[in-house]
Parts: sequence; C-alpha cells; structure tokens
Amino acid sequence: MAKINSQTCILGIESSCDDTSAAVYIDGNICSNVVASQKIHEEFGGVVPEWASRKHQQNIVPTVDAALRKAGCTIKDIDAIACTQGPGLMGSLLVGHSFAKGLALAAGIPYVNVDHIDAHVLAHFIDGNIPLLPFLCLLVSGGHTQLVVVDQNLDIEVLGKTIDDAAGEAFDKAGKMLNLSYPAGPIIDRNAKLGNPNAFVFNTPKVEAFNFSFSGLKTSILYFLQKETQKNKSFVQENINDLCASIQHTIVSYLLSRLEVAMIETGIKHIGIAGGVAANSQLRAELHTLATKYQATAYEPKFEYCTDNAAMIAFAGKLKLEQKKYGTFTDVCFTRK
Ligand code: KG4
Ligand code: ZN
Repeated sequence: MAKINSQTCILGIESSCDDTSAAVYIDGNICSNVVASQKIHEEFGGVVPEWASRKHQQNIVPTVDAALRKAGCTIKDIDAIACTQGPGLMGSLLVGHSFAKGLALAAGIPYVNVDHIDAHVLAHFIDGNIPLLPFLCLLVSGGHTQLVVVDQNLDIEVLGKTIDDAAGEAFDKAGKMLNLSYPAGPIIDRNAKLGNPNAFVFNTPKVEAFNFSFSGLKTSILYFLQKETQKNKSFVQENINDLCASIQHTIVSYLLSRLEVAMIETGIKHIGIAGGVAANSQLRAELHTLATKYQATAYEPKFEYCTDNAAMIAFAGKLKLEQKKYGTFTDVCFTRK
C-alpha cells in the first residue's frame, strides 16, 4: 500500500469531458499539470461525446507520459493513482478510469476514485491563498452549478444547485446563438470587455432557496435575438460586444446574488468560486466587491485550476488516500451526482 506521508507521489488523471489531463503531486507540490484540449468540438458548438472519448484514447498515453517526464519521474516513483470517477460524459470517463485502473494494477499500486465536482472545490486548497473554514463556495462549471459549504474536515455539503442548465452551459448556449465557437465562455468574456453591460436587459430566473435556473435566460436571449434579427439581419454582428457584455452581466449578477443570499443566511464570511466559469474576469472581480460589502474574504482558485485539470484530481486523491479511502477494481463511473 502507499506510503502516506508528505513524500507521497500521486499521479492524477482527469478525462470527464473534452480535456485529457494528467498531473503529478509530490511532497505537497503540483510538479506537473498537463492538459490536452480537444479543438475538434469547436465547429459543433458543443462537445460531441463520441469524438471526445476517441480523442481521449489518442491523448491519454502521451499526456500521462508528458506529466511524468515534466515532474522528473517514472511510473516506478508513483505511490498511487487518482482518477475522476464522475460526474461527466460516460465514454470520456471510461477512458481515463479504465486506463488508471489498468496502470495501477500493472504497477502494483493503489488507486483512488475522485468526485469531479468535489475536486473543483478542493482545488482551492492545493496551494496559494488557502481559504479559512468554513468556506462557502459557488461551483460553476460547464455541467454543474452548486452552492456548497466546505467544513473543518474538508467535507462538502451541497446547499443548492441548478434545476436545469449549468452556468457554463448558459454561456456556451448563448454563444452558439451569437455564432461564437465552443467553448463560448472565454470568448464572451473577451468581447464583454469592449461592450456595454447595460445595453440589453434579459430575464433573470427566480427559484427557491439556494437553487439556480438558467433555462429562462436561454429562452429570453433566443426570443430577443429572433425579434431583433427580423428587423436587422446584421443585428448580432453589429452588436456583438454589447450582447456579450449584457449576457455576461446578467449571468454574473445572478450567480453572485445567490451567493450573497447564502452568505447572509449561513453567516459564513469566507467565500469563493470554483469550476470553469470561475475563470471569468467579471465574476472574479465582482466576487471581491461582494466580499468587501460584507467585510468578508474572497478566494478564487488559480486560473489553471479553474477549468478541468488533473492537479485538482491528484490533490483530492491525496486527501482520500490519507483517509485510506481506496478504490476497488470493480468500481464504475457515474454521470450525475
Ligand atoms: O469546469 P469545466 O472545465 O468543465 C466542466 O466540468 O464542465 O468548465 C467548462 C466551462 C465551459 O462552459 C466554458 O465556457 C466555461 O467553463 N468557461 C468560462 C470561461 N472559461 C471557461 N465561462 C465564462 N468565462 C470564462 N472566462
Ligand atoms: Zn469540471
């Protein structure tokens, strides 16, 4: 079994969606974090699951190899392998999970299953400005949107979640309507810097408790664009920056209004964001404005730990190894939490 101390060397593998990633965590440090992105989905306006799993199969060996080389080690130095068990795309998960189990079996080392969503939140605790506990975190990715509390043991309690689309999905679907390529989140972020956030007003969804909904916003954008393009065929092209700024402003204000309610109701003064949408520049900036308003402390993860990456998997795996929560070779992947 693994030598569980500060010298433990863990290989992390992540393949839940369209990025193949491998990372090596040694002695409390991330020594490599290699991400192979799949450009193939850009033209389809979203991830094509079958293409994603085929690309993972091509990428997994070179990505793991590159992560080991960059960390200056070989598989013989690895004490344990951590991999994403889910949620994610079934075919994509199967590639990483089967590879991780096979490699662990061949190397005679244990492996641990890591929850994709928990890993996004726990990325805050890898290094840098580590949040004080309890920590209230808004998890916003392409597939999930949740409000969670991390307690003193780093256990995660879900306070609320989206009842339909995720925040990243809202960015990506809005981008598709604006003829932007996938993933549209970073493109909307870039264009929004040049636009007026108050140029257009879109409906913000109303839901109970700490939950979220984005399907009404999507419909509101769709109907608005249909109406305007009937009058002017070039409406989207002529107003792209204002449209991006207004859509981003709507999503960010909505997300932070839910975080604000949760902060008031829980009384927690350490707040943060995690997941791919946590890379958004307006969300990162306005998180700090919100914290200042309540004399709270804001934490955002390092940019490279926002979107899918194996560093967060290796780190979350380390925490599970310390608790001796090993995986078994009959473990299966899961798609939804
Ligand atoms: O966490 P992630 O890499 O994958 C999932 O677990 O789903 O998140 C991907 C999502 C995509 O929807 C992408 O558009 C969004 O994160 N994203 C952004 C930005 N960078 C990535 N959304 C808004 N602004 C960004 N800068
Ligand atoms: Zn993710």
